[in-house]
Amino acid sequence: MRYLTFALGKGRLVKNTMELLEKCGIQCEEVTDKDTRKLIFTNEELKLRFFLAKGPDVPTYVENGAADIGIVGEDTILEEERNVYEVLDLGFGKCRMCVAGPPQAKELLSHHAMIRVASKYPNIAKNYFYNKKNQTVDIIKLNGSVELGPIVGLSDVIVDIVETGSTLKANGLEVLEEICPLSARVIVNPVSMQMENERIRKIVADMKKALMSE
Ligand code: PRP
Repeated sequence: MRYLTFALGKGRLVKNTMELLEKCGIQCEEVTDKDTRKLIFTNEELKLRFFLAKGPDVPTYVENGAADIGIVGEDTILEEERNVYEVLDLGFGKCRMCVAGPPQAKELLSHHAMIRVASKYPNIAKNYFYNKKNQTVDIIKLNGSVELGPIVGLSDVIVDIVETGSTLKANGLEVLEEICPLSARVIVNPVSMQMENERIRKIVADMKKALMSE
């Protein structure tokens, strides 16, 4: 039997992901051991391997078959536009993709003005403004702390995920438009889905069961 490899997105989803795998009888707690520099862990008994990766890299590993299964936020899946199967909504990691900014920016949005949009998600932002709103905008790619954009005058608004809304509030910004709801997803490499169908379906079914019993 060959190893099935999981790519797990680092950050906010890790805790819930580990709890879920544990409930499915899949032990991989070493993955989150902060004292090790080791990157990949093996569960010999189940012939599984696990590694943590930056969220946006998870769909890359899965598309290329370097990982068979990925667990990552839907925001990342939408942004990366990779050829992967999305097989399960995990229901945790719930948040919203939004256009946010200072209250006075609402005016610019409704008038379809040529605005500057800062985002970690340039594809989602482009798609929303160009295809859904038919509004031409200038998109500025940032890699984090996107809320700074409108505060320091880099952009008029931002496109970003909002979970509790506290980051926006603390910076005098608010949700101006909602793009879509988001949550954590399981993705699978299309070839793995065929070659390892039974094993992968069993894992996904176990996850579903574990989620329903919560
Ligand atoms: C995300 C997002 C917002 C914040 C939203 O950033 O980009 O900044 O969380 O959460 P809230 O609505 O609960 O305040 P993250 O913490 O992942 O870090 P980053 O800004 O470095 O990307």
